[in-house]
Amino acid sequence: MHLIHHILPLICLLFLQVLSQDEAVGDKYLLGVGRADVTGPVVEIGMMGYADLAQKGSGLRQRIHSRAFIVADVNSPGDRFVYVSVDVQSGDTAIRDGVLKGLEAAFPGVYGQNNVAVVGTHSHAGPGAWLNYLLPQITTQGFGSQSYTAIVEGIVLSIKRAHTSLTPGYLSLAKGLVSDANVNRSPYAYEANPAEERAEYGDVGGDVDKEMTVLSFKKEDGTPLGLLNWFPVHGTSLYGNNTLIAGDNKGYAALQLEKDLGNGFVAGFSQANVGDTSPNTLGPVCQDTGLECRYEDSTCNGVSQQCRGRGPAFQISDTESCRIIGQTQYLGAKRIYNSAQTPVSGDGGIVRSLHTFVDFGAGYEFKLSNGSMWKTCKAALGFSFAAGTTDWPGFADFTQNDPGAPSNPFWLLVRDLLKTPTKEQKDCHAPKPILLNVGEMDQPYAWTPNIVDIQMFRVGQLAIIVAPGEATTMAGRRWKAAVADELDKLGIISKESGWTVIGGPANSYTHYIATPEEYAIQRYEGASTLYGQFTLDAYISLYKTYAPYLAAKVPSTPLPTGTKPPINTNNSISLITGVVQDSPPLGKSFGSVLTDVMGPYQIGAMVKVVFVGANPRNNLRLEGTFAAVEKNESGTWARVRDDTDWNLVYEWKRTEELTGQSKVTITWTVESGTPAGQYRIRYYGDSKALFGGKITAFEGVSGVFNVV
Ligand SMILES: *[C@@H]1O[C@H](CO)[C@@H](O)[C@H](O)[C@H]1NC(C)=O
Ligand SMILES: *[C@@H]1O[C@H](CO)[C@@H](O)[C@H](O)[C@H]1NC(C)=O
Ligand SMILES: *[C@@H]1O[C@H](CO)[C@@H](O)[C@H](O)[C@H]1NC(C)=O
Ligand SMILES: *[C@@H]1O[C@H](CO)[C@@H](O)[C@H](O)[C@H]1NC(C)=O
Repeated sequence: MHLIHHILPLICLLFLQVLSQDEAVGDKYLLGVGRADVTGPVVEIGMMGYADLAQKGSGLRQRIHSRAFIVADVNSPGDRFVYVSVDVQSGDTAIRDGVLKGLEAAFPGVYGQNNVAVVGTHSHAGPGAWLNYLLPQITTQGFGSQSYTAIVEGIVLSIKRAHTSLTPGYLSLAKGLVSDANVNRSPYAYEANPAEERAEYGDVGGDVDKEMTVLSFKKEDGTPLGLLNWFPVHGTSLYGNNTLIAGDNKGYAALQLEKDLGNGFVAGFSQANVGDTSPNTLGPVCQDTGLECRYEDSTCNGVSQQCRGRGPAFQISDTESCRIIGQTQYLGAKRIYNSAQTPVSGDGGIVRSLHTFVDFGAGYEFKLSNGSMWKTCKAALGFSFAAGTTDWPGFADFTQNDPGAPSNPFWLLVRDLLKTPTKEQKDCHAPKPILLNVGEMDQPYAWTPNIVDIQMFRVGQLAIIVAPGEATTMAGRRWKAAVADELDKLGIISKESGWTVIGGPANSYTHYIATPEEYAIQRYEGASTLYGQFTLDAYISLYKTYAPYLAAKVPSTPLPTGTKPPINTNNSISLITGVVQDSPPLGKSFGSVLTDVMGPYQIGAMVKVVFVGANPRNNLRLEGTFAAVEKNESGTWARVRDDTDWNLVYEWKRTEELTGQSKVTITWTVESGTPAGQYRIRYYGDSKALFGGKITAFEGVSGVFNVV
């Protein structure tokens, strides 16, 4: 009797403790985070994003990375997903295919179509030539296996690191506003959306989402592992004339937060409903006159070339604007990460994922909100696609419209393949006038995807929409609201406590996803919406249809795989030539100093040294560095800066074509806070011999200089 008296309160106490523990930290999961280098060839390769043949790499500002986040069910670890945020322009069908093959070889049966999402941060400052379809290959002279392999292997390595670090822990959510990091670059199209709908979003930024959602990963004992956040802003801070490889504003933000928190903390700055956003927060201005651009079509005197968006530091440089937009996201994420958290929990810690392919080109049929049936079209791009945006004018080769002699030899190969759209295709895309009938072109292989990836993840009260394209601000909101409604209706996640995020462009690059109202306006985003005016509605219909697969008890029929897309890696055209040879000038050797440092240098000064160089395509030095700053610390030289540092820049230039001579310039702008002392610069290179092609590593070291 009195034993019960003693035990009962104890049991109650225990029960209460378990309860409050649960409330405070949520359900327990298996969590893993990992980061790896994906920096492909930094010189001589067309860059990805601006579709400009002239934009070829000339060096490296900051290495780019893949960041992997694994969430698994503790009780059923087979139920897991991996969300990858990678510093490239977008997810891609061939990249994802390579990643899945790499994962299958390393962990048979663990990762597959359903549970792997590859989401691009949408940086426009990375090497190109890695994409599956022909259209984005045009301005990179085709496919390049070195670019492709660097990204695939880097993503796989980041996932392996996350996998081997899996540990029990807790997730939590928080959100907050991040101001001054994005604006809408097509407000005229945005305003075509209904006024009542727009009014609902006044608090989160109006014509762009200024709200950042942060998902925090912590070990059981509270040790931080990393965070993944979603915030929409284009990776176009660095303009289309930048030729130094970097991860643009999100790449900078991620490295800054990781350096700040240290201890292997992995910070994923995922892209979200990025479509009509811009980091050029001071808005577009006519470069020639300084006047405002025309609101409706962003032209100056009738042409789009002069209308350019300005970043916060436009009077200094796009580089400084990029750093500021990155810094704003880094500090915003850190603030939200340190704010009050909502623990992640639901259905006893289950984890769900789904994926299927749908052939939009075959005409996916679905019901519109007015009850009529509708069908998606084969992909096509409209006229305004060629005009580009205020972030940078578009397809230069095409808009110059020089019918006699296209400046890009790749167009010579493909121009005869351009197909006139059929009446059916034209009607399907109306009111978009078709410029590039890409979805009906499959010679020599498909130009753009007709098959799209449908994918969602769920952990607790969080649903993640993985979008295969750039949803505009309102498209993303509509999509999230529709999924949240459906999950509520199905009793899977209640609307009151649920969180929904959208990550993209993921898995495949299907260009833009605008609302039908924006589509009717046909600015760049509407013109680049590939499958007709109701492309968004088609996606929403599919994501709702498959929402039951996020429930604790999933439907008994497994989700069909769908029509697999073609993988073009083995049959892609490539006009990219390899490195022939490197040689030093007479009387010099690789790594010799041509122009040495001077000094002393003060904070803010630029240290510069020029070396006898060799082509960095000989060895990408993944997970390593081309450039380093070393400091004399009581007689030993310690590395204090490397390729992950924004202010240490590596540039390469071929100086003699035939003999393969080149020079490398390394500059370091001394950051505030740099301690005074003795420093030197080190260059890591690899040369290629003409005969036999043997690649040999070498190093060069500058003279010693003082920072005062
Ligand atoms: C790139 O273009 C911008 C805007 O037109 C210009 O201000 C800047 O000087 C250019 N940068 C380079 C490296 O040419
Ligand atoms: C529904 O909307 C579509 C597209 O605007 C239109 O073609 C169709 O006629 C509408 N159906 C009804 C019943 O109003
Ligand atoms: C491409 O070819 C390689 C080597 O033959 C093969 O291993 C790989 O599976 C092929 N890739 C595809 C997508 O067919
Ligand atoms: C490095 O610093 C030590 C003193 O801490 C000094 O003795 C040494 O000469 C320095 N090395 C060089 C190469 O300047």
